[in-house]
Amino acid sequence: MDILFVGDVVGSPGRDMITEYVPKLKEKYRPHITIINGENAAGGKGITEKIYRSFLEVGAQAVTMGNHTWDNREIFEFIDKAKYLVRPANFPENNPGKGIVYIKMNQIEVAVINLQGRTFLPPSDDPFLKADELIAEAKERTPFIFVDFHGEATSEKQALGWYLDGRVSAVVGTHTHVQTADNRVLPNGTAYISDVGMTGPYDGILGMDREIVLKRFLTNLPVRFEVPTTGRTQLSAVLIQLDDKTGLAKKIERILINEDHPFFS
Ligand SMILES: [Fe+2]
Repeated sequence: MDILFVGDVVGSPGRDMITEYVPKLKEKYRPHITIINGENAAGGKGITEKIYRSFLEVGAQAVTMGNHTWDNREIFEFIDKAKYLVRPANFPENNPGKGIVYIKMNQIEVAVINLQGRTFLPPSDDPFLKADELIAEAKERTPFIFVDFHGEATSEKQALGWYLDGRVSAVVGTHTHVQTADNRVLPNGTAYISDVGMTGPYDGILGMDREIVLKRFLTNLPVRFEVPTTGRTQLSAVLIQLDDKTGLAKKIERILINEDHPFFS
């Protein structure tokens, strides 16, 4: 069982990369499951129904979210019918949507869990305890459990990786938008990376227009971050190979596509 996971899609440059490269990646690696983090897909903040559907149409089976889940208000109109949209499970109980979904491929079920960190991010419930609860639920159905941990602090992401080692198939970090080189299979069989990286503008600052971000750093004045609509782009992803019987990981490989790292089919 192979899982392709594509990191935070930022705005239209990110969406264009999805349209162009997800079919090519699927042809090259033939993953059984493709998952996309779409929390920055609509203009850098949130997601719309049209974008969510376009990700499913290009071949994703689930779309994960993060701290920008509610930032495009359209989500309140479609989240309850979006069967494969996963928002952080440790949001308050009364929030719409869900933090775990099950996807089925060739009679095998995969649980997809989204969690959000608590360090340098808005308050949320304890992601560690919520993970315990959801893993206990998922284990009743399947050994294939994928966790997208949307967090700012590398330490918190590493901590969850170690905490869940041997209990889930993979813990992949998202949110910080720069791919980390620490992909590994932990000793008890959980695939781990601190951050998968971002899919979107290559010459911005974390995917945002760099002139605007620079203005903020140079003046401290309030500015509105925007996604550049032109320029070079990149795609960041990981490919995870799982053991078909145990659901544990055999390998996790980084994928980075940009002008400095061209794609070879
Ligand atoms: Fe985020």
